[in-house]
Amino acid sequence: MGRYTPTLAVALADATGVASGMHVLDVGCGPGGLTRELVARVGAANVAAIDPAPQFVAACRERNPGADVREGTAEELPWADGTFDAALSSLVIGFMRDADRGVREMARVTRPGGAVAACMWDIATGGMTMLRTFWAAVGRVQPGAQSEQPLVGTAEGDIEQRFRRAGLEDVIGGSLLAKADYTGFDDFWEPFTYGVGLSGQHLASLTFEQRARVRDGCREMLPDGPFSLDARAWYASGTVPAAH
Ligand SMILES: C[S@@+](CC[C@H](N)C(=O)[O-])C[C@H]1O[C@@H](n2cnc3c(N)ncnc32)[C@H](O)[C@@H]1O
Repeated sequence: MGRYTPTLAVALADATGVASGMHVLDVGCGPGGLTRELVARVGAANVAAIDPAPQFVAACRERNPGADVREGTAEELPWADGTFDAALSSLVIGFMRDADRGVREMARVTRPGGAVAACMWDIATGGMTMLRTFWAAVGRVQPGAQSEQPLVGTAEGDIEQRFRRAGLEDVIGGSLLAKADYTGFDDFWEPFTYGVGLSGQHLASLTFEQRARVRDGCREMLPDGPFSLDARAWYASGTVPAAH
């Protein structure tokens, strides 16, 4: 998934208007792909990041020296009210225990007039080509298998609705486009075999024979030789009201 981060991070930071002089927060930073884009724009001293996974916190600190990287969750952000000019979250809202609380916390730590923004892959209409391809192949082997569709934020308009519910103003939603290059089919397939994420875990739960059939199904759906895949994410941004 990390190979989509550079283009998605630029798209999310652009949509949120992150620019020099701002103090910004990356919620659910993972190994720090978006954090790095934020550091490039505003400088490490103006970037904070948080993730519950200690190994990601360590990786993010290493990639972004000088940034304030902490261990914790979106639902209980360890910063004072109005600390940041913008709080961003990329591909995280669907994994939060309480997404509405996470959004309210992002709004709380952002100053009045500041921006809150979040995005998740478009699973509902299949705009994330890599995952659409994988789950289509799984569906041929296991009709009705549960894909990642029910996750919060993966259907159009869902993040927008949550932002409005959290009291954010001037909420706008839309899609962001990311892209990744693959040297060939093996480069596409291998990451699924690591057992990481819902798709990797699902693959690991299959029999050897089922795994081989899913692999063959993906192979049929993808071009020969090197290829690139598009990935659409749904996003929303909103402004923290003055009287927040
Ligand atoms: C798909 S990764 C995205 C990582 C990173 N934002 C990126 O775009 O590369 C999801 C991340 O959300 C983190 N996460 C899960 N639950 C969380 C929560 N309640 N609050 C904050 N982050 C959370 C995970 O540890 C993981 O790093």
